[in-house]
Amino acid sequence: MATTPTRSDKFSFGLWTIGYNGSDPFGGPTRPPLDVVEAVEKLDSLGAYGLTFHDDDLFAFGSTDAERQTEIDRLKGALASTGIVVPMVTTNLFSAPVFKDGGFTSNDRDVRRFALRKVLRNVDLAAELGAETFVMWGGREGAEYDAAKDVQAALERYREAVNLLAQYTEDKGYGIKFAIEPKPNEPRGDILLPTLGHAIAFIDTLEKPELFGVNPEVGHEQMAGLNFTAGIAQALYSGKLFHIDLNGQRGIKYDQDLVFGHGDLQNAFSLVDLLENGGPGGVPAYTGPRHFDYKPSRTEDITGVWDSAAANMRMYLLLKERAAAFRADPEVQQALAAAKVDELRTPTLNQGETYDQLLADTSAYESFDADGYFGAKGFGFVRLQQLAIEHLMGARG
Ligand code: GCO
Ligand code: MN
Ligand code: MN
Repeated sequence: MATTPTRSDKFSFGLWTIGYNGSDPFGGPTRPPLDVVEAVEKLDSLGAYGLTFHDDDLFAFGSTDAERQTEIDRLKGALASTGIVVPMVTTNLFSAPVFKDGGFTSNDRDVRRFALRKVLRNVDLAAELGAETFVMWGGREGAEYDAAKDVQAALERYREAVNLLAQYTEDKGYGIKFAIEPKPNEPRGDILLPTLGHAIAFIDTLEKPELFGVNPEVGHEQMAGLNFTAGIAQALYSGKLFHIDLNGQRGIKYDQDLVFGHGDLQNAFSLVDLLENGGPGGVPAYTGPRHFDYKPSRTEDITGVWDSAAANMRMYLLLKERAAAFRADPEVQQALAAAKVDELRTPTLNQGETYDQLLADTSAYESFDADGYFGAKGFGFVRLQQLAIEHLMGARG
């Protein structure tokens, strides 16, 4: 199987990822700015298919109309000459001082109205560039202090904002879908819609829930100690996995945005296995962009930036190869059968069975040998896990 990326792998990168200049709360940039045309050309040569961006990544906050248009035209020129596409666009509602208490949920109503206008303008741009997905990461939608934010009112204002956006895209016939990106904290002490589950429950309250899904990020769920693969399985189950941010995170700490697979490698393996083989009959469960939202470490020079971009794609393809070998191994198939993994797909009740019939079934209770589970009838999950890890390590061909 090929580990050289091609367009059909649908690998995309945020302009802010490869363009990250190394600034953090303790130090300024360690690298010069990256030009968008260079970014597109280099991504093309590495085998990626897409570029995504925030409005402010392409043209600085406060740009004049002419400055904004110049950068849009330069991007369009690079897209046309390479064939790179823009599958997703997102809005920066977190960097400028005006958004210090958030955008859609700032306590200041004037800020909320300004945020909506900024997003509407960016939705027009997304449609112009043919983007299918519009991501909303509410990094500043939150608070540090419980008394500072009425969370129920904030949810109402968030709802008001996204209902308006949905109506707008529908009226314009843009066909764009929205993907909410959860994160538990950072930069705010606590962020609204902190996990996948919170976001999916919120989506159910919207006027047009069918236009909304999630854009989960590996590190964001893992920052909260959650199992990313399990969360993605639930997003798929709910039909809400509209986009995905792949990266690496090592445990419960600040948002590391490492290269995909450079964090919890076991979870990255099960994730790729789910995305690639987790559909009915072993087909891919997710067919959208494989989007990398990582930060090249500030220790790296520009060569290191491009090496790290390539590393993301290579890690994904290596894991895909390992997952295919895992699925194809007869010993794994036997271990899966012994562990009754497939039996979970069998309904617990017989077709049409009522509770009266269940109550009348003596084999389910009166004559069922519950004691037989003591000292016997193990599931063999550890053996299955050992096989998975051996495949991940390349120890089983
Ligand atoms: C983060 C976030 C952001 C968002 C991006 C899209 O690392 O905290 O992932 O990078 O994904 O801003 O809006
Ligand atoms: Mn992140
Ligand atoms: Mn992200």
